[in-house]
Amino acid sequence: MGGHRGTWGSQAGFILAAAGSAVGLGNLWKFPYLCWENGGGAFVATYLGAVVVLGLPLMMAEILVGRRAQASAVPAFAALGGPAWSWLGVLGVLAGVVILAYYTVIAGWSIRSFVLCLEWSFGGYPPDAGARFPAFLADGPQQVLLTTVFSFLTAFVVYRGVGAGIERASKVMMPVLFAILLYLLVTALRLPGAGEGLRHLLEPRFQDLPPQGVLLGVGQAFFSLSLGLGAMVAYGSYLSPQERIGRTAAWVVGLDTAVALIAAMVMFSLLHSIPGLPDRVSGSTVAMLFVTLPELFYTQMPGGTILAPLFYVLVAFAALTSTISLGEVATSYLVDRRNLPRGRATILSASVIWVGSVACALSLGAVPALSSLRVFAGKEGLLATLDHLAANWMLPLGGLGTALFVGWHLPAAAVASELGIREGSPAFVLFRWALRVVAPLAILGLLILVLTGRDLS
Ligand code: PHE
Repeated sequence: MGGHRGTWGSQAGFILAAAGSAVGLGNLWKFPYLCWENGGGAFVATYLGAVVVLGLPLMMAEILVGRRAQASAVPAFAALGGPAWSWLGVLGVLAGVVILAYYTVIAGWSIRSFVLCLEWSFGGYPPDAGARFPAFLADGPQQVLLTTVFSFLTAFVVYRGVGAGIERASKVMMPVLFAILLYLLVTALRLPGAGEGLRHLLEPRFQDLPPQGVLLGVGQAFFSLSLGLGAMVAYGSYLSPQERIGRTAAWVVGLDTAVALIAAMVMFSLLHSIPGLPDRVSGSTVAMLFVTLPELFYTQMPGGTILAPLFYVLVAFAALTSTISLGEVATSYLVDRRNLPRGRATILSASVIWVGSVACALSLGAVPALSSLRVFAGKEGLLATLDHLAANWMLPLGGLGTALFVGWHLPAAAVASELGIREGSPAFVLFRWALRVVAPLAILGLLILVLTGRDLS
């Protein structure tokens, strides 16, 4: 291994690719509605705590493992820790498959929103736009079609290799996405309810946080930062040895958190400003990104008719830079461990995942058996069930394993030299403590609490 693996073009290239994986539907679609459903500011505070205490150290840990081993997760854990540790990589591959299956369904909605926005930009924004959403959810053929299109896009990019294409495109599209989001924020902050919205979002009132909220906040931190399944191990394996892992990881974590917060500020300002909007959304809070936001574009924003379709192209792109990193996890496993050529590996993994996606697409009302599936309290249907399973159980478990691996199993000297800091320095001591004690106790404690305390939910 070594030379032929190639590296990112520059530090900025890695940061944008890793941020491309991190920034996605988790920030734009999931974070705002989780905030809305879990007490606003209290959830945000929990989330930010999880990002700092668990997210940053684990981001550094995953990158470190990948760069040291020069390999993707399964072979990396095996090479640095022995074959027993490769189960950690395998758990990650499974999580990647589960997430990709349902993520593709939501990603497909961005294509529909794009087409609808074109229609609205030319024909006008109908007052009942939001009310049509439930019927769309239950429209099986349309859901399957959109999912299939997005699965195909993902497989196409993974098939061709992540290389120049995605890194270059990320460098152009991610900054445009950031710019549009900032413009959305400026517009939303001028609305009459913005102050109330921000207070709801930023003022932590912990009595409003449902007990499950802590688990959801931790799970969301893993999900949003693409941690706990080896995606950052794989991306880290292409990072050049000169780069400082701490600084690079801080950039990725910072960008991801900023995008999530901005998206939530926009949604909350809107929901507190437009009468009746919260009711229209409440039936399907998960649809916030696709139902709430068009109101801002079409009723409040100068130039909104031009920006709306463009925005959903960028949402699709943000989702795509995330799905390819998920697809890469499954594909590189088949390449590295099952010795399949890249093309065959892509087609095989994409086909298996597509079957799961179709089932998820039909679990939004089209097929009753799939839509009424109920494993976790309050999570109805296959899509919601898989989302809960992956984000709140599989990823934290993967993170727990990674923390134990880097904190206890890897020699301190190796970890310090990979990070480029002295073994005795305060930063190193903090990092080690976070991985050895804080992260394992926090994750394990939380999982045990939720497992044993039925009354928690
Ligand atoms: N982080 C991505 C998002 O927030 C989702 C993702 C999870 C991507 C895990 C890769 C791995 O949308």
